[in-house]
Amino acid sequence: MQKIILVTGSTDGIGLATAEMLISQGHHVLLHGRNPAKLEAAAKSLSGIFPNGQIVSYVADLSHMDEVEALAKAVAKRHDKLDVLINNAGIFHTPEVITRDGLDVRFAVNTLAPYLLTQRLMPLLGSTGRVINLSSAAQSTVDPAALTGAVKLSDDFTAYAQSKLAITMWSRSLALTSGNEGPAIIAVNPGSMLGSKMVKEGFGVDGGDTRIGADILTRAALSEEFASASGQYFDNGAKRFAAPHSDALDSEKSAEIIPTMEMILAEIAQSQESN
Ligand SMILES: NC(=O)c1ccc[n+]([C@@H]2O[C@H](COP(=O)([O-])OP(=O)(O)OC[C@H]3O[C@@H](n4cnc5c(N)ncnc54)[C@H](OP(=O)(O)O)[C@@H]3O)[C@@H](O)[C@H]2O)c1
Repeated sequence: MQKIILVTGSTDGIGLATAEMLISQGHHVLLHGRNPAKLEAAAKSLSGIFPNGQIVSYVADLSHMDEVEALAKAVAKRHDKLDVLINNAGIFHTPEVITRDGLDVRFAVNTLAPYLLTQRLMPLLGSTGRVINLSSAAQSTVDPAALTGAVKLSDDFTAYAQSKLAITMWSRSLALTSGNEGPAIIAVNPGSMLGSKMVKEGFGVDGGDTRIGADILTRAALSEEFASASGQYFDNGAKRFAAPHSDALDSEKSAEIIPTMEMILAEIAQSQESN
């Protein structure tokens, strides 16, 4: 059956490969990117490969929370149902690490934007939808002061690993609190050192085939085995559901992430209203 699937960050790497795989299987794919020209090129290339493919494109820079809100509104305006949201967009290294909201861009794009987008698209996803959140083998204890932007982290890896544990923590926590009322929420490590722009630029290696990541995200989005896996973490390095970093299994620690994110988002919304 044809599904409607939003893949964030589908202009490159694993996201682009996933969009291609899903379109090849006949699904209706909502492409997303931050760069309008790159997004148009991706849509044109995919439409060239799949002339009957159902593809729509959405632009939003996910480091800016107002653009995340606008993306959710644009999607909801066009669709009254969304089967799967794949929160794939991610950032590791960039020259500008602090966003205009005063956040570390890794927390903004990799942790907060997916949370806000998930919250806003919850009515479209309903209880039968799925949210696939991109985690990583790199996970380290979250400093709440770094998440809020009060403390600046000095290296890319620390910021990235904290942002990826934070998304893994909120995935589990939100899955537990939403229960059967909400969509299945699953965190997935797509594999390590898959040869995307992020890996080439960040680690200076060619890396593996990004289709390894696309393959697991497609399975996570569509297969029966993931339908009842809400709250779990799939480690594609080990090729199985596995234990994430112990903080993500600590209910108290995980539960604290959500009010902290809500506070950050409320402060940003408030400052935008007063400007
Ligand atoms: N590659 C790996 O081995 C690996 C391992 C573990 C986890 N992951 C995760 O997998 C996901 C995909 O990464 P990738 O390796 O495929 O990297 P990538 O090729 O750099 O792709 C990242 C995607 O996210 C988009 N993006 C980045 N910043 C954005 C922003 N501010 N607003 C909107 N979109 C933004 C990029 O847009 P542009 O095209 O404009 O840059 C691109 O489409 C990430 O969440 C990453 O953390 C990857």
